[in-house]
Amino acid sequence: MLITPRSDKLNRIVILNPKGGCGKSTLATNIAAHYAQRGPTPAIMDYDPQGSTTAWLDRRSAAYPEIHGIAAFKKTMQATRSWQLRVPTETKNLIVDSPASLNHDNLRELTRDATSILVPVLPSSMDIHAASRCIADLLLVAKIDRNDRKLAVVANRTRKRTRSFSKLMRFLDSLGIPIIAVLRDSQNFVHAAEQGVGLCEMQPSRVRQDVEQLDRIIDWLDAWESRRRLGGIAKDRREQAKVDVAAANDDNRGFVRRFDFAR
Ligand SMILES: Nc1ncnc2c1ncn2[C@@H]1O[C@H](COP(=O)(O)OP(=O)(O)OP(=O)(O)O)[C@@H](O)[C@H]1O
Ligand SMILES: [Mg+2]
Repeated sequence: MLITPRSDKLNRIVILNPKGGCGKSTLATNIAAHYAQRGPTPAIMDYDPQGSTTAWLDRRSAAYPEIHGIAAFKKTMQATRSWQLRVPTETKNLIVDSPASLNHDNLRELTRDATSILVPVLPSSMDIHAASRCIADLLLVAKIDRNDRKLAVVANRTRKRTRSFSKLMRFLDSLGIPIIAVLRDSQNFVHAAEQGVGLCEMQPSRVRQDVEQLDRIIDWLDAWESRRRLGGIAKDRREQAKVDVAAANDDNRGFVRRFDFAR
């Protein structure tokens, strides 16, 4: 049975950064492979007209655990949009791969029901600049509240101890957005993409270091319901603080009026 992706029990993971080649599809396929191995069957929604994740699914052998693919980039005349984008009822994790160069409307639409948003960033000056614009758009255009704890960054293709790597870490730290994993520049990712598999499905001794970092991403994603709860509590506290300040201001104004009257 199929449903539209608005279910309350669905972790809708959106991977975005309008900068081309930063690792969105790589992240999407590796996360999907992990959830496929664990079960139940996850779904990938591919919004990129290049269809990279859809092509990866086509290369994937039937011997590996199933991943439900939705080619959202295809325009169909035969079905309504919501029919085209439906996901299986049992899906717990939906991974949305987004295209490079998103306009503001697309950004708002893609992130509207997101429960987790991952921004992969490469450690070069140009990429850091593009990432800062992307994060600013997420906060100001898509109105993602940092306190909702939906947003995290993955540093990708890093070579430790380079100047650009430290610059990237400093920049992300200054934004107060968590950097949940640091993926190294490794041919393992390239081979996995070619073979239609995730790193977690490759020979463990070869990919241990990379899988350790991917597991950190999965841990963060798995905590989506508690992140949402904590975000809700923080929001309630901020609302209560606003009410308290307004009440205190009213009291002060009353006191000033009484004081004026007494004079
Ligand atoms: N950590 C990594 N180490 C080595 N190669 C990587 C790594 N991450 C991604 N790549 C490679 O970099 C290239 C771009 O990655 P990918 O296609 O995932 O980026 P993208 O953000 O989806 O690009 P686009 O914006 O074009 O959709 C691919 O060839 C991929 O195999
Ligand atoms: Mg891509």
